[in-house]
Amino acid sequence: MQDNVIPHSYKVSINDRRRLNNHNSFLLWFTGLSGSGKSTIANVVEQELYKKGVKTYTLDGDNVRKGLNKDLTFSPEDRTENIRRIAESANLMVDAGLVVLAAFVSPYKKDREEIKNIVKDVNFVEVYINTSIEECERRDVKGLYKKARAGEIKNMTGISAPYEAPENPDIEIKTELESVESAVKKIIDFITPKLEKENE
Ligand code: ADX
Repeated sequence: MQDNVIPHSYKVSINDRRRLNNHNSFLLWFTGLSGSGKSTIANVVEQELYKKGVKTYTLDGDNVRKGLNKDLTFSPEDRTENIRRIAESANLMVDAGLVVLAAFVSPYKKDREEIKNIVKDVNFVEVYINTSIEECERRDVKGLYKKARAGEIKNMTGISAPYEAPENPDIEIKTELESVESAVKKIIDFITPKLEKENE
């Protein structure tokens, strides 16, 4: 079936759209345990980008797992499919000229590697929000760790399901040692040169 899908050659290219926006487009991917601070930090980064006139969009569990991916569970296979669909969606948005922020646990290294294949290495920035399981469990913002300890949630990342930490992330934030402000500054400093040049 897919053999018969022949792409149309559109006249407005990704680089035309980037030029029109006056900035590059790429995917800023936040990975880390539930409650590590991914969405909090992504949110402030997006605000900073907005102030600079950068066109952005944020994908996270709230707007993806309740819609596009509402058929998916937290089994390893479904998490892989979750990340694949998010990466494909992000790829369209990068093509549309946006800086996409994505905040997902994304616990498997091979799934995160696959994102790079989908959006291309050059369009991918990996941000590891490194917060220990002890600290995430202490914060327990959503009460999920308590439920996991009580056996009410199976496959809880960090408790009964694995988290494979990135070995060479582009940026690593240790939230137990640094503030949100310093994390945001680190990320903005890293992506500023990347915003200015075309990626292709
Ligand atoms: S991922 O593993 O497939 O990348 P995703 O980021 O979409 O996960 O969703 C994680 C969010 O779903 C967590 O922040 C948490 O609020 C909630 N959640 C519910 N059940 C689980 C679970 N078993 N493991 C991890 N997170 C869970």
